[in-house]
Amino acid sequence: MKVLLTGGAGYIGSHTCVELINAGYSPVIADNYDNSCPEAVKRVEEITGVSVPVYELDVADFDAVDKMFSENDFGAVIHFAGLKAVGESCEIPIRYYRNNIDTTLTLLEVMKKHGVNNIVFSSSATVYGVPEKVPLVEGMPTGCTNPYGWTKLMNEQILSDASNADSELSVVLLRYFNPIGAHESGRIGEDPNGIPNNLMPYITQVAAGKLERLGVFGNDYPTPDGTGVRDYIHVVDLAKAHVKAIAYADSHKGTEIFNIGTGKGYSVLDIVNAFMKVNNLDIPYDIKPRRAGDIAECYANPEKANKVLGWKAEKNLEDMCRDSWNWQKNNKNGYK
Ligand code: WQD
Repeated sequence: MKVLLTGGAGYIGSHTCVELINAGYSPVIADNYDNSCPEAVKRVEEITGVSVPVYELDVADFDAVDKMFSENDFGAVIHFAGLKAVGESCEIPIRYYRNNIDTTLTLLEVMKKHGVNNIVFSSSATVYGVPEKVPLVEGMPTGCTNPYGWTKLMNEQILSDASNADSELSVVLLRYFNPIGAHESGRIGEDPNGIPNNLMPYITQVAAGKLERLGVFGNDYPTPDGTGVRDYIHVVDLAKAHVKAIAYADSHKGTEIFNIGTGKGYSVLDIVNAFMKVNNLDIPYDIKPRRAGDIAECYANPEKANKVLGWKAEKNLEDMCRDSWNWQKNNKNGYK
């Protein structure tokens, strides 16, 4: 079955491409390379030995997307494409709403026109906003603290309303927690533009000597060691969840939401210490003030995904730290 991956040349998209091929699917990528590059697709082809067709386009461009659907008999779509920097979304909110919502609306219109009824959407734990309690369960209240998160929640609403209005449409919403790590080959990985916002790529760039020291954003949170606690999940485990989601979408109708996390929370210092131990490296850091918009704790109750999707995270923190460094040390400047 052909599966369209919008934003498929990105960090999670490229890893999902590999796992889809491993599972016997035929991925096709649509990407404007805003947050990715063609080299990532070449690496996917190198890892799998399978060629992956790429359409370089803007997913909001109806005519371009329509033409792509006319040339491919897609069985399903995984919608990764979107702007995703929390801080940037506060600076240019209109660009985030325009891009992240228009792409979804265009995709749904073209899917309807071509009779494609299965879509998996890349959502985020950020839709829970400031959690009242943890671990987070899918039915818990949502509410966002930044435009990026609102675009994710609005897309969840749009997709859910679309499936309520169309009995043929099957929607799977995957709420990612904190993806880190890289494929064991070290040939694909996270390649952020500029200075990394996220913790692990910042750590690996300190380890690679590209950045001087890590700033730990606050150690006065109500957590075991005072630093922020998150549910870090290996990107390959996350990719495998998409394979399960495609199968689920193919055999169900309506909308289903799943938390994709390990169910374990680790603090910033847990990550730093594990990274140093696994890789026998020193990561110098300073305690800095809290980062605006950060929350103390966020981790998943993944039971629904375990039971209903038949998916469970298999890789541990050591795997995540080892694979993150293996990618960085073999690709000091990412794909460039
Ligand atoms: C993790 C922890 C920071 C950097 C965001 C988005 C989420 C998803 C993942 C897109 C926090 C601390 C970080 C640093 C630090 N993005 N930290 N020093 O904020 O949990 O989630 O990225 O889908 O939607 O909200 O991830 O990696 O930025 O932060 O101390 O240099 O590391 O305070 O406690 P976050 P993160």
